[in-house]
Amino acid sequence: MVKIGIIGCGKIAQVRHIPEYLDNKSAQLIGFFDVNQERAADIASQYGGRAYKSYQALLADPSIDAVSVLTPNFTHAEIAIAALRAGKHVLCEKPMATTLADCEAMAAAARETGRKLMIGQNQRLAAAHQKARELLQAGAIGEVITFQTGFSHSGADQWSIDGRSSWFMDRSRSCFGAMADLGVHKTDLMVYLLGSPIVQASAVIGTLQKKYPDGTPITVDDNAFCTFVMRNGVTGTMHASWTNYGREDNATSLYGTTGAMHIYKDPAHAIVIERGGTERTCFDTDAIQTNDSQTKSGIIDLFIDCILRDTAPVISAEDVLPAMRAIFACAKSAEQGGGLVDIGSL
Ligand SMILES: NC(=O)c1ccc[n+]([C@@H]2O[C@H](COP(=O)([O-])OP(=O)(O)OC[C@H]3O[C@@H](n4cnc5c(N)ncnc54)[C@H](O)[C@@H]3O)[C@@H](O)[C@H]2O)c1
Repeated sequence: MVKIGIIGCGKIAQVRHIPEYLDNKSAQLIGFFDVNQERAADIASQYGGRAYKSYQALLADPSIDAVSVLTPNFTHAEIAIAALRAGKHVLCEKPMATTLADCEAMAAAARETGRKLMIGQNQRLAAAHQKARELLQAGAIGEVITFQTGFSHSGADQWSIDGRSSWFMDRSRSCFGAMADLGVHKTDLMVYLLGSPIVQASAVIGTLQKKYPDGTPITVDDNAFCTFVMRNGVTGTMHASWTNYGREDNATSLYGTTGAMHIYKDPAHAIVIERGGTERTCFDTDAIQTNDSQTKSGIIDLFIDCILRDTAPVISAEDVLPAMRAIFACAKSAEQGGGLVDIGSL
């Protein structure tokens, strides 16, 4: 049995991590911490286990084997590294951290301690994304030339347990807005689908509409328009947005030398492959998870499995570093006016 501590008891803890741990026969939830101590105490009384007064106290408990780090972005590196050094295995939510140095320090801490560090880039686990990768590798649309990907919904203020006063809207705690909240999912997805790191990135970001309750604009981007050049030459665009007040959009299209592939774009089919104007092949793997319709991501089962089998995590810190480098390159590009930034210059 793997005994689990939850650090950060907000929305993602409540809709994904806790239900998926409860569903795993080899995991047992035994400890909870949140800076909102009442929230941690409520969760502990609901699911059993103990609420701690600090994350350090939770990490000092030798009965805890592994933790989920589900706190605001600026705390990920500090808490994840402390947990690894305390001998715990760590599943840390995305974005991995708020500086490249912190991301690299997390990866180094995992190597040095020999503990598992897995990052919550769960889009890799969506059935259509796994099928699409297999189809692309088999040459279903020939050589990929370009792509466009995007993720947009009505914003983290509509999602967070603390609503419009959430840390998501505060640059000092989130560091990025839509670009690293939603954009990091699609950035990591393109690295995963194409099997190639991003070597150059550019971005125009803006706060176009979101405001604090007092009417002043939020201090992070609510829209990010990014361009990625992959090492294999494939070039494409990614749009992340918190200002889509229609149906959540989480679609990706890839255009190759013999056809096009659309993932989660057609409401009726998870993957559509088009060759010419008339030939269509459809794959009905699953429907994409949305904020309003949470389905099992499978990330907890994989985390527990890698601990029990002592195998490498399926989504390791090293796997996710290329996407994080691209996000930091986008931030640099936006600061410099939107031109392409070499990943090597970071
Ligand atoms: N993989 C995904 O698809 C996905 C989806 C949503 C959120 N996330 C990530 O999960 C993390 C948590 O997001 P959320 O949606 O649960 O946010 P949330 O605002 O709903 O909850 C955050 C919780 O953390 C607590 N907190 C704040 N500072 C803390 C600290 N220093 N130590 C401990 N607890 C602290 C808050 O009181 C709150 O309960 C973020 O990094 C976010 O980007 C990932």
